[in-house]
Amino acid sequence: MPKPKRNPLDTLELKPGQSIELLKALHIVTREGGINQDSRRKLKQVYHLTQFIEPLIDEVRKANDGGLYLVDHGAGKSYLGFILYDLYLKQNPDGAVVAGVETRQELVDKSNTLAKQLGFDAGMQFINLPVAQATEHPDLPETVDIVTALHACNTATDDAISFGLKKQAKFMALVPCCQAEVATHLRKSKASQLGKSSLVEMWRHPLHTREFGSQLTNVLRCLQLEAHGYQVTVTELVGWEHSMKNELIIAKKHQRSNPKAAQRLRDMLVELGLDGEEGLQQRFHVPA
Ligand SMILES: C[S@@+](CC[C@H](N)C(=O)[O-])C[C@H]1O[C@@H](n2cnc3c(N)ncnc32)[C@H](O)[C@@H]1O
Repeated sequence: MPKPKRNPLDTLELKPGQSIELLKALHIVTREGGINQDSRRKLKQVYHLTQFIEPLIDEVRKANDGGLYLVDHGAGKSYLGFILYDLYLKQNPDGAVVAGVETRQELVDKSNTLAKQLGFDAGMQFINLPVAQATEHPDLPETVDIVTALHACNTATDDAISFGLKKQAKFMALVPCCQAEVATHLRKSKASQLGKSSLVEMWRHPLHTREFGSQLTNVLRCLQLEAHGYQVTVTELVGWEHSMKNELIIAKKHQRSNPKAAQRLRDMLVELGLDGEEGLQQRFHVPA
């Protein structure tokens, strides 16, 4: 007897009420109803991240009588924003807004059109803007609840953190991309550090400069968040086979500031030769 054909959609572990139209628009499901394997990998990552963000949304909405303002930076095709809205917000949309910030106009236009098509446009908006300018943008409110950035390129994650600090975000969920700035500063400080500390061996070889720079960037981001009163958890997003950029930083505001963390950050910059006139203290600014 021939085996009954398996519905390819079963492999997506769809949630009740989840929009197939959205999955088609995001090219996760093909027009013929099959699965696009490349996009499926992306979906798996986004699903995983949404599981971390769902309790944050619940906590905010409980505290705000249903209100929620979430800003996703470096939104790209806005997989994350759309899946969040589809899974957790569209059933009870009053007061909930997901905004996406993205520099590529064509992606912003596509996302705004898709939001309209799905009937999500009352609660979703996409703005063509570099993250660094988002703090001043008139369409974004004075304060926001949640900041997300999934693989926002280079220093866009740092700009997202600055945005969240300025907008007093209660939570930030960040999956950083590669960041070249810290490695560039390490490269410049190498010569002056060689005689001072044997720790320079951590980044003497060019490949190590890049790897150590990448690790250090996230360490400094975490310290910066702690200095501003956030409780920080660092974890792996999904197995390494899915992405090399796999570190998830979740930050929850729990106190005004943390002077000890601020001092530790300052000390690290000095010890690594990253302070000084053109140093990194502006990038990783801490409360005065
Ligand atoms: C690697 S993609 C990730 C997109 C999306 N978050 C995702 O995970 O599918 C990075 C996106 O960030 C956008 N981007 C890069 N730098 C940016 C900046 N400074 N401000 C806003 N968007 C930026 C790029 O155009 C690109 O769409």
